[in-house]
Amino acid sequence: MDNRQVLVVNGGKRIEGELEVHGAKNSALPLLSAAVLAHGESILHNCPRLTDVDAACRILTCLGCRCSRSGSTVCVDATNVSGSEIPENLMREMRSSIVFLGAVLGRTGRCRLSFPGGCELGARPIDLHVSALRQMGAVITEEHGYLSCSAPSGLKGARITLSFPSVGATENILLAAATANGVTEIHNAAREPEICDLAEYLTKCGAKISGAGDGVIVIEGTERLEPSEHSVIPDRIVAGTYLCAAAITRGELILTHCEPSHMTAFIQVLEAMGCRTYAYGGGKLFISCKKQLSAPPTIRTMPYPGFPTDIQSLFTALCATAEGTSVFVETIFENRFRHAAELMRLGAQIKVEGRVAIVEGVKSLSGAKLCAAELRGGAALVTAALAAEGTSEISGLCYIDRGYESIESALRSVGADIRRV
Ligand code: UD1
Repeated sequence: MDNRQVLVVNGGKRIEGELEVHGAKNSALPLLSAAVLAHGESILHNCPRLTDVDAACRILTCLGCRCSRSGSTVCVDATNVSGSEIPENLMREMRSSIVFLGAVLGRTGRCRLSFPGGCELGARPIDLHVSALRQMGAVITEEHGYLSCSAPSGLKGARITLSFPSVGATENILLAAATANGVTEIHNAAREPEICDLAEYLTKCGAKISGAGDGVIVIEGTERLEPSEHSVIPDRIVAGTYLCAAAITRGELILTHCEPSHMTAFIQVLEAMGCRTYAYGGGKLFISCKKQLSAPPTIRTMPYPGFPTDIQSLFTALCATAEGTSVFVETIFENRFRHAAELMRLGAQIKVEGRVAIVEGVKSLSGAKLCAAELRGGAALVTAALAAEGTSEISGLCYIDRGYESIESALRSVGADIRRV
């Protein structure tokens, strides 16, 4: 992509209409990695067209899989997995490629990849992944920025207790345990919907998994997984982004192809701020925000089913024009308020102290030149620009494109004045 591209937004237009939510990036990535374990061709529907998904497909090809896309369906033929190394350039392209570790190790008995290192959200350690796989019999060495893993006598089941319910570590353990010898228990497992989606696909492939979505997951290893067909769950963060876009422009929106039950934590906050929402069933959610919004009670990001860290930045933007003082406590990632300084260029009043941000609502925002520094923070800038008077210009689109299928087309279809130039 051309890095000079920017989004030009003429703010002040109300969001109104109907918008379809695409498949979840954070589900598609572990599902694509899981396909490595299946001996044959898996078919994944509702797979979003995102640069991170493209990067995952390049990793699959590099491992010897055949990967093709038709519309939103991606086919992964893992009949001949020949490689077990993920080149550094692909690891750098997408930090979350660490989720290939458990699957490649499970399928080939080894895996070599470069250390994912820090990222735009602060240090992103993988100690929980490494420690769990070691408990399952993997021999792991770290040198010159590379992680070399092997399971000389195969992976074996283990009782693993995570000190924090890490999403990525839970996924890697699930993947490694699916074909390990014996029973694996994950205590204090992550409970995110994406974990359930991964467990569901693996189960269709023949894995024996119980408890996904609860704090304790039990996996009875099977020798071999067969391919299957699966549809990626809707992206709850993308859905939340569009709800915030409707709310900040005091608009009215119907989301289709979404799953409101995955969004309870932030739908409650929108209601508390003065929005009206209604879930029709059949994946439809209505939101209306015709009046001035008021600041919500303190928002504290937490593991699922708590308030998602990924939607925090969108709500900071939303609260910028809500009446009163909003307080955000970010407990999951350090360095996740980088969008605050950019929002202030639009006239927002935000004070950040460590993991706390305090937003004093202002009457209106006005257009400015902004730069996205990470995915969701970038989407927050777009959302705020929709409500700002005048023209805003947002650069750093490579981050936004990692998680949104053409955010400008989606927003334009519901009334926004936004274009990519
Ligand atoms: C996933 C999501 C990301 C989301 C996050 C939390 C994907 C591709 N990404 O990221 O969008 O924001 O869940 O919901 O699904 N940690 C450790 N050691 C580890 C692993 C994690 O200390 O070995 C820490 C991290 O630094 C972070 C916290 O645990 O502070 C949460 O990380 P984790 O749940 O693992 O998030 P990801 O899987 O990286």
